[in-house]
Amino acid sequence: MLSLLPQLTIGAVDLVAAFLLLYGLHRMASPVTAPSGIFVAGIGMAVVVLVSFLDIFGVSAAATPVLPVNIGLAVIAIAIGGGVAWWAGKKVAMTAMPQMVAIYNGMGGGAAGAIAAVELFGRHATGMTPLTVTLLGALIGAVSFSGSLIAWAKLQSILNKPLRFPGQKIVNAAVFLITLALGVYIILLDRTGAMSSGLIYLFFGCAMIFGILMTLPIGGADMPVVISIYNACTGLAVGLEGFVLQNPALMIAGMVVGAAGLMLTLVMAKAMNRSVSNVLFSNFGDAPKHKHSDMKGSLKPTEASDAGIFMNYAAKVIIIPGYGLAAAQGQQKLYEFVKLLQSTGVDVKFAIHPVAGRMPGQMDVLLAEAGVPYDMIFQLEDINDEFANTDVALVIGANDVVNPAARTDKSSPIYGMPILNADKSKQVYVVKRGEGKGYAGIQNELFYGENCNMVYGDAAVVLTKMIEAVRGLGKAAA
Ligand code: TAP
Repeated sequence: MLSLLPQLTIGAVDLVAAFLLLYGLHRMASPVTAPSGIFVAGIGMAVVVLVSFLDIFGVSAAATPVLPVNIGLAVIAIAIGGGVAWWAGKKVAMTAMPQMVAIYNGMGGGAAGAIAAVELFGRHATGMTPLTVTLLGALIGAVSFSGSLIAWAKLQSILNKPLRFPGQKIVNAAVFLITLALGVYIILLDRTGAMSSGLIYLFFGCAMIFGILMTLPIGGADMPVVISIYNACTGLAVGLEGFVLQNPALMIAGMVVGAAGLMLTLVMAKAMNRSVSNVLFSNFGDAPKHKHSDMKGSLKPTEASDAGIFMNYAAKVIIIPGYGLAAAQGQQKLYEFVKLLQSTGVDVKFAIHPVAGRMPGQMDVLLAEAGVPYDMIFQLEDINDEFANTDVALVIGANDVVNPAARTDKSSPIYGMPILNADKSKQVYVVKRGEGKGYAGIQNELFYGENCNMVYGDAAVVLTKMIEAVRGLGKAAA
């Protein structure tokens, strides 16, 4: 009975941790409860890691760890990994989050691959089913590892251009088929006992090359969706390796991550009106681009102070934040400006597009960080009809999510994507630094509209000028 105690404790704690993970995930559904959700899920993770040390009492004599060397190494690894993650998590800028997710996801895939490697090289996984599951986890984990690293390099602007060459899809398919064939060969050799370590190295090498080849041709702008796909893959790989080790915590965490990654991928693809295969295989961003001369009308610049004062006298203003606001870290200034408008009786609302920014929910988090009350924030379907009765739409650091071409231009890469109806409001102000394009790399008809003025400058700088102008009005009146 005493010898069963560690295993019973692990089982019970795993169950509690699974509950904490799921409860944490549930709380992450709203920005109000998300911080506590992350905390609860983190406690679940920490508990699982700590209790897994009890495993040393339940392993076979041959696998008993060399104490204290093995335990010491594990503690050092956890301290280094945890320390780096803690430091990076505190330091990372909001706009660099996708890179961070990419690198951590790569680590997850790599960890699943490493578990599989230990099982394969140690010849622990034998027999048709365990070996197939281990190899499947190894394949998905290794692809996710190398693919995520390439995604990270693209988002970090280390790799700036997609690498494309003729016949690339055929080469990729060939590498994938060779990897699969190696896996089948390993299973067949296992029966004869003639499996060599060289073959396992080759299998991992091919899987990682496939991950690299598959990610290289995809444009940097599609990386958030690609990371989400790899995230789903990592979850699947971890779940499969959990099955091999018969570890419930790994199985549950893997399945939750896999399902969440898959759902996130589908949500992002749907919000962009694209299929997942279109993201992976279409070389998005290569579509013929509009030239300035293709656009009807002209760009009409105006001063930040004039725009600020105009909004001060408006009855209703809807603000559309986008990626540029996050890049400028202008959220605090924006809310300061909004409070000034509200103090003079202007009705102000925020309109959030589901794929504004570079990550799902990025704009909600950004506004929450600045203290904007949630009842001022509206999602696309809840606010789109209001633009027609709005005096001013303030588009700040956003571009694609307000591009009317999505409604009308069948040749546009964003055709079919639902957009925020900023163009329908009486006056539009667009704050951006210059004539830079958005994520989709296309011109925006809205900017050339009769009712639209451009306010050029970094979002934070422009907002400071708007605040000064509106405050100046108050002082003049006093
Ligand atoms: P974008 O279309 O990317 O436009 C952002 C604009 O911000 C740019 O045109 C840029 O113009 C401006 N900008 C950049 N830095 C700025 C700064 N410091 N101050 C002021 N303006 C600045 O952004 P969006 O409208 O948010 O659309 C998001 C796009 O990302 C969509 O196409 C979406 O499909 C895609 N996407 C989103 C996600 C998720 S889940 N959010 C995932 C993958 C892809 P200037 O250079 O002229 O300043």
